[in-house]
Parts: sequence; C-alpha cells; structure tokens
Amino acid sequence: MNSTDIQLDITKTKASKIDQVDFSNLQFGKVNSDHMMYCDYIDGEWQTPKIVPYGPMEFEPSAKVFHYGQAVFEGMKAFKDEDGQVWLFRPEQNFERINKSSKRLAIPEFPKDYFFNSLKTLLKLDKEWVKYGDGTSLYIRPFVIATENGVSASESDRYRFMIITCPAQAYYNKPIKVIFAQEYSRAADGGVGYAKAAGNYGAQFYPTKLAKAKGLDQIIWTDASSHEYLEEAGTMNIFFRIGDRLLTAPTNDRILDGVTRKSIIQLAKDNDVEVTVDKVSVKEIVEAAKTGELKEIFGAGTAATVVRVEGFEYNDEYYDLPSIDDSYGVRFKKSLQDIQYNRVEDPHNWTMKAF
Ligand code: COI
Repeated sequence: MNSTDIQLDITKTKASKIDQVDFSNLQFGKVNSDHMMYCDYIDGEWQTPKIVPYGPMEFEPSAKVFHYGQAVFEGMKAFKDEDGQVWLFRPEQNFERINKSSKRLAIPEFPKDYFFNSLKTLLKLDKEWVKYGDGTSLYIRPFVIATENGVSASESDRYRFMIITCPAQAYYNKPIKVIFAQEYSRAADGGVGYAKAAGNYGAQFYPTKLAKAKGLDQIIWTDASSHEYLEEAGTMNIFFRIGDRLLTAPTNDRILDGVTRKSIIQLAKDNDVEVTVDKVSVKEIVEAAKTGELKEIFGAGTAATVVRVEGFEYNDEYYDLPSIDDSYGVRFKKSLQDIQYNRVEDPHNWTMKAF
C-alpha cells in the first residue's frame, strides 16, 4: 500500500488561532498549531488516523499511562525555506526511533504509511504555522500513550498515537551552565535510556531542579555505576572539543541515538575534523579544562539544535569556558541549518519535502 492509499478522517478547525500568536516571542512548547493527529490502537489494530482541531481529550483516570508511564515520544522539526517550501529533517530516523522506543515499552509499532501520511497532511493543513527564519521552525511532537483503563501492572491493550505541533524558536536563547552528575543517574545498563520514554525525562526534573537552584541550567549525566564517564545532557547529546579533536560518547543502552548528534558527527567528518566516538572521562575533561586544552562543550538535539556550554561545575568547582573563534559548535550549527532551511546542497539526502 502506498501512503496515498491511507484513509484519514479530517475535521478542520472553524476558527484558526494563528492571528492571536506573537511569533516573534514564543516560549518553547507553549503554543500549539490549529490541528493535531491521533490514531487509536484497539483490538490489535491501529484504527483510521484522525486529524482534528487541537484541544483537550478525555481519558479515564485509570488509563495505564497515568499509573505506569507507558509512553514514548519523539521530537522533530519542519523548516520553511526562502521560497515557502516546507522541509522535514531526517524524519525516517524519528519514525524508526519511536518504534524502537515503543518496542522497549511493549507498545505496538506504528505503521510507516500511517505516520508519514498523517504527518504530511497535518503539516499541509497547518502550513501557515511554519515560519521562515534562522532558528524558527514548527516543532513536531509525535507520542504514544497507553489508554487501557485499569490499574493492573501490565502492558495496555489500547494505545493512542498522537502528533501535536508547536511553532518554535531557539530552545535555549543563551549559552548554558551545566553540572557533571556525581550522585543521581539518568539511565542504567539494560534500562530504557536509549528510548525516548517519557519517564526518562520526568526522572531528571528533580536533580535538574537542584542544579537550577545552584544557578546551573542542566546536568551532564555520567554512567550510573562509576560516575566517571560523561554520557548525555538532559535534553540533548553532548560534545567536547579538546584541541582540534571532537569527542562524544558512543550510543549504548543508556544514551539516546540523537539525530542531531549523528548529523554533527557526519558534518565534522565532512569537514575533516577528527571525531572520537568513545567513552569521555570526567577526569580527562577536568584536566583539559585546567590546562586550557578544553576549547568548547556544546549540546546537540532537535529542540536545542546546538547550544554552547559556557561552563561546568564538578566537585563544587566551576570551570569557565569562554567563547572562542572558529567554534565547532557554531560552525556545525550553521552547516546543519543551511541544510535544514534548504540553503545549500544536501549531500547526504537528509531533508524530505513535507508536501
Ligand atoms: C528534542 O530535542 O526534540 C527532545 O525531545 C528533547 C526534549 C526533552 C525537549
């Protein structure tokens, strides 16, 4: 079956909210576009996807998602180019990853044609919500929740797959300060760290709140057993530059296989920058910070794009990382955005026209 054969039930909004939105002053994730998509899994089958006006939905308090957190999500973006065409960036990666996450959470996989057909239809309906401008995009949040009623601790037999979208600007509008985790952990071997499980993020809020109380913005998570190796930040993967070499941790059970992460690695290789994808020790980074060889740290993620880390705390000591000329973070962010906004050739075929 090809995607055009997929049936969709569409109910359009009677009154668009777009004129009430100040697109020059958006708080990330707070404003939703006019429509959303949902598709229920009932009796072992995904039903007809529906596109409806964005709004509240009803679930019983006993729905399993509220009790056991059986939920996964994705983060994607649609970009508008100078000619008004709308592009997705490596969307197949997100599609594959949500099903990988679902599998780990015992959620049935979602069909590819349902995903792309409903996503493209949704974007076409809300195309005015995708604005042009550097750092500007329509953030796309696909997610799946367990909707069976009943508090027995077992996987649900009903699910709802949904896609909502939000017009977005930069997730971080300034460089961030981080702390290297020494007490709490994000993920452990054999766990769900590699999945975009809702609980992976919720479980970070308390330690992050403690970090924020100290004037820091985020935590760089270390491995759960020794806290000796730097793995990933709360909302993104993380890169370090020692001298001219870029370092990032390899993906494993505990680390999200980030689309921006793998794109930055590729862009670095395209630019003949030496990239080491290997365990990054706290000791190595702290020592390099002391000797001045640590040139930069930056985070990379869909929502964040690329964000500079201006300093980190470890063992109650703060290490400042002044901005540098010829920053890899700045350079690769620009290369990435040039591709995302269709300003340059796309040598790796990363972009997909939305409609
Ligand atoms: C994204 O970058 O899209 C994410 O899903 C991270 C999120 C926690 C904002």
